[in-house]
Amino acid sequence: MKSERALRGAGGSGGLGAGLKYTSRPENMNGCEEGVEFLPANNSRKVEKGGPRRWVVLVAVLTVFLALSLLAGLLAWHFQDRNVRVQKIFNGYLSVRNENFLDAYENSNSTEFANLAKKVKEALKFLYSGIPVLGPYYKTSTVTAFSEGSVIAYYWSEFDIPKHLVKEAEQAMAEKRMVTVPPRARSMSSFVMTSVVAFPSDPRKVQNTQDNSCSFALHAQGSEPTRFSTPGFPDSPYPSHARCQWTLRGDADSVLSLTFRSFDVATCDERGSDLVTVYDTLSPVEPHAVVQLCGTYPPSYNLTFLSSQNVLLITLVASTERRHPGFEAVFFQLPRRSSCGGYLRGAQGTFSSPYYPGHYPPNVNCTWHIEVPNSKNVKVRFKAFFLQEPNVPVGSCTKDYVEINGEKYCGERPQFVASSRSNKITVHFHSDQSYTDTGFLAEFLSFDARDPCPGSFMCNTGRCIRKELRCDGWADCTDYSDELDCECNATYQFTCRDKFCKPLFWVCDSVRDCEDGSDEEGCSECGRGRGGGRCPAPRGLAAGPRAPAESSCSPGCPPNTFKCDNGKCLPQSQQCDGKDNCGDGSDEAKCQDVKAVTCTKHTYRCLNGLCVDKSSPQCDGNEDCTDGSDEKDCDCGRRSFTRQSRVVGGENSDQGEWPWQVSLHAQGHGHLCGASLISPSWMVSAAHCFVDDRGFRYSEHSMWTAFLGLHDQSKRSAPGVQERGLQRIIKHPFFNDFTFDYDIALLQLDRPVEYSATIRPICLPAADHTFPTGKAIWVTGWGQTQEAGQAAMILQKGEIRVINQTTCEHLLPQQITPRMICVGYLSGGVDACQGDSGGPLSSPEADGRMFQAGVVSWGEGCAQRNKPGVYTRLPVFRDWIKQQTGV
Ligand code: ARG
Repeated sequence: MKSERALRGAGGSGGLGAGLKYTSRPENMNGCEEGVEFLPANNSRKVEKGGPRRWVVLVAVLTVFLALSLLAGLLAWHFQDRNVRVQKIFNGYLSVRNENFLDAYENSNSTEFANLAKKVKEALKFLYSGIPVLGPYYKTSTVTAFSEGSVIAYYWSEFDIPKHLVKEAEQAMAEKRMVTVPPRARSMSSFVMTSVVAFPSDPRKVQNTQDNSCSFALHAQGSEPTRFSTPGFPDSPYPSHARCQWTLRGDADSVLSLTFRSFDVATCDERGSDLVTVYDTLSPVEPHAVVQLCGTYPPSYNLTFLSSQNVLLITLVASTERRHPGFEAVFFQLPRRSSCGGYLRGAQGTFSSPYYPGHYPPNVNCTWHIEVPNSKNVKVRFKAFFLQEPNVPVGSCTKDYVEINGEKYCGERPQFVASSRSNKITVHFHSDQSYTDTGFLAEFLSFDARDPCPGSFMCNTGRCIRKELRCDGWADCTDYSDELDCECNATYQFTCRDKFCKPLFWVCDSVRDCEDGSDEEGCSECGRGRGGGRCPAPRGLAAGPRAPAESSCSPGCPPNTFKCDNGKCLPQSQQCDGKDNCGDGSDEAKCQDVKAVTCTKHTYRCLNGLCVDKSSPQCDGNEDCTDGSDEKDCDCGRRSFTRQSRVVGGENSDQGEWPWQVSLHAQGHGHLCGASLISPSWMVSAAHCFVDDRGFRYSEHSMWTAFLGLHDQSKRSAPGVQERGLQRIIKHPFFNDFTFDYDIALLQLDRPVEYSATIRPICLPAADHTFPTGKAIWVTGWGQTQEAGQAAMILQKGEIRVINQTTCEHLLPQQITPRMICVGYLSGGVDACQGDSGGPLSSPEADGRMFQAGVVSWGEGCAQRNKPGVYTRLPVFRDWIKQQTGV
C-alpha cells in the first residue's frame, strides 16, 4: 500500500502538503516500509507512541467493519423485500349518487355503460391517489356491471403492492367509504360515490373481461320463470376448468327467486372441486355469498334461493377434469316484501321464516308478537329448524338466529319448544348478509299455566309426553328428563349406575345399554350376575365361534384390549386373528392381510372356491379373494346423487335416494307392496304379498304392475318412471302363511328395466354377511304413516336399528325364527307399517354401498313400544336367489 501512495506521490499533482516526508530511496519501491507515507499533521505523537495502542485501533476498525456489513445486509434485505410486489385484486361495489339508472346500463357493450364506467374508473383512481398505501401501486379498475340504486356499480381494482404493505393496503381499502370528485369544468357537477366497498379476492377467480365466452346476463320476464343452464346441459358436460358467470336481474323494486332444478357438478372434496356460488350482489365477494354448491343433488332437494335485492350473480369455477352435466336453473322476480313478522293472535297458529321451505333471503329481520287469550300461557314449537351457516363457532349464534326470551337459537335443531310465563311471546328472526338456509316452521299454542301438560308428563324442555313413558328406560324427552330421578321396578328392571332403568334381561347381553355401561359389568360370573344377569347368548347368525375371553364384557375397554362394535372387549391378540371373536365381525374387519382359510359357514367363499376370513369382503373396495371375485358385480347399492336433504317434518325421501325401491300395484287395488331391484330383470319381495285372498288371485303374475324410479304415487307417469309387468313370481317353497317363516319371493319382470339416475339395483349380502346388533339401517316404503292411517304418497324413509335376536325372541315370544331379524326401536316411534311389505331394508356397508339386510315382513301393529318390526333375513337366502335367478 505504501508503495502505491508513493507512486502517486512521485508523479502526482504536486499538491503535497505539509507532513509529507520524503526519503530518497526510489530503487526500493516494492513494498518497502520507507516509501512515501501519509501522515496526519499531528501524527508525530502517534508515530512516537503507535506501538502499544495498535490493537485498540484494530478492534475498532473491525467493529466498524462488522457494523457496516450488518447494516448493508439489513438494507439489502429491506430493499429487496420492498421490491417484492404482489398482485392484489379487490372486488367491490359502490353507489353513484347523482346518476339515474338507464336500461342501457344493463348492456355492457352500450356507449352509456362505457361512459359511466369511465367516470367511475376516474373517480376510483382519484380516490386511490389520496391514499398513500394504495395510490402509487394502483394499476387498473374494471367496471363489470351496474344495477339500480341510484346506480350501483360493481367493479374490481388491481394493485401491485409491495409485500410488506399488503396488510395496510387491505385495511385502507376496508376503511374508504366515499369519494367526491370535483367537477372538471364549472358547468359540470361533481361526481359523488358513496358506500364504496371492496374485499380482497383471489385473482384466479376474477373473470377475465376479455373472455366472455361463458358469461351471461339475464333479466327476469316478470313472474314467468326464465331458464338457464351450464353450456351443453344436459347432453354434454360443461368444459373442464370453466369460468362461467350468470348475472340475473329483476326490475327495480323486485327480488329474485332462483331454483336449481337439476344439479350435478364434480363432487366436493379437498383436492379440488368444481364450485357453484350464488351471490346476493353482482360482485363475486365472499361476504355476500348466499350458498356454495358442489356434488349432485336430487331434484327433490330444496335448492330455491331468494335475493335481498333485484340482482343475483352465479359463478361456476371448475378446477377439475371431471366430466359432469352441470346445472339447469330457473329464476323469476316477485315484488319485494315490505316487511315480515307481525302480530299473531288467537289460541294457536303457525308461522315460518320468509319463503319457507325455500332458503330465506340474506339481510332480513322479522319480529312476531304473539298473544294468546289472557288466562293462558303461550309456547312456540319449532317443527323444523335449519339456520346453519358455515364458520359459526359452536355455541354462538353470531350470524343467523332466532331469538326468544333473550335466548338465541341457530344451526340445525330437532323439534323443540320455547315457552313463556305469560300470554305473550316475541320471536325475532335475523339473517345476516351471507349464507342462508331453509329456515324454520313453527306453531304457537296456548296452555294452562297451572297444568301445562294435562294428563301427561312435561319434559324440562316444555314438551308433553305420555305419562307411561316416564322412567321406562327410554329417553323420550330430548333432554332425557323423563328418565331422571327414577325408581326402577326391581322385578323387571335393572338400575343403571346413573339411575336409568333398563329391562332386566338386557343385563350382560354384550350390548351396552346403560350410558355408563353398568349393565355389562361383572359379567364374567355368568349366571350369577346381579339382578339375574345372564351369560351372553348366541345372537342369531351373527354369533361366531366363542372364545373364552368374551365373557369380559366391560363397558369402556381396558388398555391394550380391542373394543368390538357391539361394545365387547377382547385381548388385542384376537384382533385380525382370522376368527370372528366379537360375534359381529368387527375384530376381523379392516385387517391388512386377509388370509385364505378353510371354509366354514362364517367365511366368504370366493369364485375359485377358496375362502377368506373377513366379515363381508364383498364390494368393499379391497380385493380380498385372489381371483378378485369379491369385487366383481359391484354395480349395485349406489345412488346417483351425492347430497341428500335433511329430514324435514315427516320422513320424505329425496328423489333417487332409494333407486332400488319398487312399488307393486295389484289390479284394481293400487299400491299394495314394495320390492327391491337386484338386476335389470329381477326383484326381491315378500312371499306373503302373493297369497290368494278373498277371491283375489294375488299369486297370479299378470295381476301385478311394477313401478320403478317412482317417488310420488300420484305421479306414476312422470318422466323417469318405468312401468313393467311381471313374468314370474317365485315364492319361497318353505314360506309359511301362518308363521311368516321364509317370507321371501323373487319376481321376474316381463322386460328388463334400463338403469338411470333413479333406477339402480341394491347389493345382495353374501351368506356369511352379518348385520350387527345396534347397526343403523333404513326402511323405506309407501305404506301407512300411522297404524290404521293413510298410505304415503311420497316414498318414506326411516332409520332403525338392528335388535339383538334374543331380545327380540323375548319381546315376540315363540314367533321369531332364524330367518327373521328384528329391526326398530324398542321405544317404538319408527317402524314399517301396512303397505311397506316386500320392501327392502337398506344397510350402508363398506365403501358407502347399500346392501339389502332384509325384506319388510310383519309386526304387531306399527311403531309400538317393545314391538319392533320383523324382517326376512337376506343372507340366509343368498344361495337360493343365485340358484333361482342367476343373480
Ligand atoms: N305385513 C305388512 C304389509 O303387508 C308389513 C308390516 C310391517 N309391520 C311392522 N310393524 N314393521 O305391508
